[in-house]
Amino acid sequence: MGIPSLNPSAMAAALRALLVCFAAAFFMEAAQAQLSPNFYQKTCPKALPAIKKIVKEAIKKEARMGASLLRLHFHDCFVNGCDGSILLDDTKNFTGEKTAPPNLNSARGFDVVDKIKTAVDKACKANVVSCADILAVAARDSVAILGGSKHYYPVMLGRRDARTTTKSAATNNLPPPFFNFSQLVANFQSHGLNITDLVALSGGHTIGLARCTTFASRIANDTNIPATFAASLRRACPPAAANGPAGNATQPLDRTPASFDTQYYGALVQSRGLLHSDQQLFGRTANAASNGLVRLYSGNPAKFAADFAASMVKMGNMKPLTGKQGEIRNNCRRPN
Ligand code: HEM
Ligand SMILES: *[C@@H]1O[C@H](CO)[C@@H](O)[C@H](O)[C@H]1NC(C)=O
Ligand SMILES: *[C@@H]1O[C@H](CO)[C@@H](O)[C@H](O)[C@H]1NC(C)=O
Ligand SMILES: *[C@@H]1O[C@H](CO)[C@@H](O)[C@H](O)[C@H]1NC(C)=O
Ligand SMILES: *[C@@H]1O[C@H](CO)[C@@H](O)[C@H](O)[C@H]1NC(C)=O
Ligand SMILES: *[C@@H]1O[C@H](CO)[C@@H](O)[C@H](O)[C@H]1NC(C)=O
Repeated sequence: MGIPSLNPSAMAAALRALLVCFAAAFFMEAAQAQLSPNFYQKTCPKALPAIKKIVKEAIKKEARMGASLLRLHFHDCFVNGCDGSILLDDTKNFTGEKTAPPNLNSARGFDVVDKIKTAVDKACKANVVSCADILAVAARDSVAILGGSKHYYPVMLGRRDARTTTKSAATNNLPPPFFNFSQLVANFQSHGLNITDLVALSGGHTIGLARCTTFASRIANDTNIPATFAASLRRACPPAAANGPAGNATQPLDRTPASFDTQYYGALVQSRGLLHSDQQLFGRTANAASNGLVRLYSGNPAKFAADFAASMVKMGNMKPLTGKQGEIRNNCRRPN
């Protein structure tokens, strides 16, 4: 039996099959450039324990540091994707994100990130872990330490670090506390995140503090706030002082700022959100989906934990630099 000669249509089919093969190979190549939970398993199995150790020590020293580290990851991801850009100090070549209004006098934890980077490089005996991945892991560890094991979730890894950034990117992409509901929804949508993500991730405000200046307008002007709650906040944050040095005084974002729990949502149901933007998610300002989710999370810690984790992974996947893009920074504050 000889080799059958191919008729034209069989020939076309064979060609198509070949093309499918090339396409599959191409996408497998692309898939290797995606994030994976095991990214450092071969190159540095000690990386994640080394990060957790420093995060634990920092939170033991000051519980708020867990909140500050969580916020750094959020502020990193919303500005050009999760690329460690928020960590860059200003250089001759660019003015970075640290002096942009959403970060100035409020973003903190940079010293702890430096400490983590030094410890990780020592554990790995090489510079293999990106600053962007350090932020993603430190955020997860902070949440799990302050919220317990139900808040542990696998972090996707393999991000690389940006070589540059701009102050305006931070100013334009981070949502300010005076946004209304539709502005918050639109901002999250512009980052590929929907209303479930908006409500679940705003639960980050179950830990940490906010400066008086960020909610001065809410306690002076908002009507969706109990009078006694507003009055007690005005005593802590006198309106006349809000734009002076006293504007740096802080209040807890919920009643248990060192516990990653569902108190934040319980407060929203009572119109006791601290920030204007928080309270926009519940009540007549919000839509049915948002109201439903706030109510759901307020009474269902397990559902909150699951949805928060899923939205954190989604946020962490935003436009990562992978493969040969960007670099692994030697020092998180500077391009190599
Ligand atoms: C939905 C839109 C959001 C707005 C408008 C917003 C706004 C703010 C503001 C104004 C502060 C206080 C900053 C200051 O004192 O100057 C703050 C703190 C904080 N935010 Fe948000 N935020 C939002 C979403 C998020 C998300 C998605 C997360 C994390 C998943 C997050 C985590 C935090 C944490 C943990 C703090 C406290 C930080 C500390 O104590 O150091 N925020 N946020
Ligand atoms: C600034 O950019 C130039 C040219 O790209 C580069 O050679 C130099 O190292 C950069 N300087 C800093 C401080 O990043
Ligand atoms: C929210 O703010 C935008 C921009 O200021 C405004 O156009 C819109 O009417 C506001 N929405 C509500 C419901 O107030
Ligand atoms: C938001 O997206 C997630 C998937 O990422 C989906 O499970 C969820 O139902 C979506 N929520 C809304 C309100 O569309
Ligand atoms: C309250 O609203 C008025 C009118 O919009 C504004 O001038 C004032 O600055 C607001 N108060 C605070 C403390 O922001
Ligand atoms: C808050 O503190 C910073 C320094 O930490 C200072 O530069 C700033 O002026 C203070 N803000 C206000 C409103 O006084």
